[in-house]
Amino acid sequence: MKQIVDLTINGDPHSLAVEGHRSLLDTLREEVGLTGTKKGCDVGDCGACTVIVDGAPVNACLMLAVEAQGRTVETVEGMQRSMEILHPLQEAFMRHGASQCGFCTPGILMMAQQLLAENPDPSDAEIRFGLSGNICRCTGYTKIFDAVRSAAADIRNARALEETA
Ligand code: FES
Ligand code: FES
Repeated sequence: MKQIVDLTINGDPHSLAVEGHRSLLDTLREEVGLTGTKKGCDVGDCGACTVIVDGAPVNACLMLAVEAQGRTVETVEGMQRSMEILHPLQEAFMRHGASQCGFCTPGILMMAQQLLAENPDPSDAEIRFGLSGNICRCTGYTKIFDAVRSAAADIRNARALEETA
């Protein structure tokens, strides 16, 4: 039996007919076509499926789509500012080689975006703690932490420039 779920995804309204047992992750990937959000473990352990729901990070594999009724969901596809302009975190990940196979990257980008929204100048320990729920099997994490630190500085510098303009 399907239910209608009305929600906002990356700023756009959606009305979806979903089974009650269907996860938000499977719904985003298979019903909406947003395959940037990855399915790693499907049990809440790896963080590959991280999305932002009403301003808080969520493992989309652990949330039912019906629980998203009336809520606002942000996925990695919503990070990019335009076709030409990447988010500073995406640019920094490219610069630092912080993505190898890329499977963990969307979840880490979402979590890092949330971290920097709450703490624009995180310490190394705060970056490590903020990303501690996201597993990467390729990079050894150092380049990821470097990229987040670099993006944080870029965002702060851009804000300072805007304020003095
Ligand atoms: S796929 Fe959701 S936490 Fe691993
Ligand atoms: S880049 Fe491969 S799992 Fe992180």
